[in-house]
Amino acid sequence: MISVKAPGKLYIAGEYAVVETGFPAIIVALDQFVTVTIQSADQIGSIVSSQYQENSIYWRREDGEMVFDNRDNPFHYILSAIKVTEDYAKTLGKDLGIYHLTVESDLDSKDGRKYGLGSSAAVTVATIKALCKFYDLPVNHDKLFKLAAIAHFHVQGNGSLGDIAASVYGGWIAYRSFDRDWLKLAEKNYNFAEMLSMDWPGLDIELLTPPKNLKLLVGWTGSPASTSHLVDRVALNKAKRQQAYQDFLTNSKACLKRMIEGFRNQDLHAIQAEIAVNRKLLNELDQFTQAHIETPLLKKLCDIAEEFGGIAKTSGAGGGDCGIAIIDSHKQLNQLIEKWAANQIIPLRFNVHHVEE
Ligand code: PMV
Ligand code: MG
Repeated sequence: MISVKAPGKLYIAGEYAVVETGFPAIIVALDQFVTVTIQSADQIGSIVSSQYQENSIYWRREDGEMVFDNRDNPFHYILSAIKVTEDYAKTLGKDLGIYHLTVESDLDSKDGRKYGLGSSAAVTVATIKALCKFYDLPVNHDKLFKLAAIAHFHVQGNGSLGDIAASVYGGWIAYRSFDRDWLKLAEKNYNFAEMLSMDWPGLDIELLTPPKNLKLLVGWTGSPASTSHLVDRVALNKAKRQQAYQDFLTNSKACLKRMIEGFRNQDLHAIQAEIAVNRKLLNELDQFTQAHIETPLLKKLCDIAEEFGGIAKTSGAGGGDCGIAIIDSHKQLNQLIEKWAANQIIPLRFNVHHVEE
């Protein structure tokens, strides 16, 4: 039996800008996992996941047809991950087998609500990792990222794939996304072996080391948000406000550059100052796109963190899910956490997870 796991993630800074090729974000992997197990079978295989079931779907009408939106359903990422890995196995001349594949996830709360820790990315990475073992396919972090990015992109189509990078590499990373228009063309022109061994334009992943006194706190608002719908909304509105959008991109890039420098210099104050700048930039984006990134509860989360000497912001697409606070580990963390809890913000006591090569 093969059993592998892949971690969930949280965005620290650079959200939305990172959707554009080459614009940086900082992302962290957490010790909450999706676990995939595979066991050989005869004749008939199965895919079983108690968390991820197709019990409701979104659809719209296009030219008289029902068109399904599978982007928020992890089951479709499992299927896409299987297809990509088996295509890769075929190019290496492997015989395909029959198996039972089981998926377990910590990334959802007990009552089934999503924390927003990137379950679709983690499930994609874990499925591919497990199948690479099953078929004995050569992979390293770089190849695993590329396979998972292809599989995820086939379903979601509009993200930066930063959550895939965090799940593959672990720890703290600075991530710049590759050109996804290039990927669409490249898939038509190269085979898998070529795609996995070439440099992808724009892609850059740097491992970061946080200062020793940096403590990351995570607060959950209890309400789920759809990243793909929020990213769509920003994309629809950016066309109307081109200058404001270009300014947002420029400012976000400069802010992230200084924040990454803060990590390289082990300078907590510099990192915190840029978290505050990034929050302000995201609030400006929020205003001209009407995406509702910083909800009233996320604002409260930030205000409370500041009261206790922390600096906080929304994490990821916002609109619910989680917020993060960066605080000196010597400050009174318990008081902050208690006040969050007293204000309907659920502290998630997760730690950063490091992945072995
Ligand atoms: O809400 P999350 O944690 O899935 O993060 C989304 C981050 C965005 O930059 C808004 C989108 C993306 O794909 O990078
Ligand atoms: Mg989210």
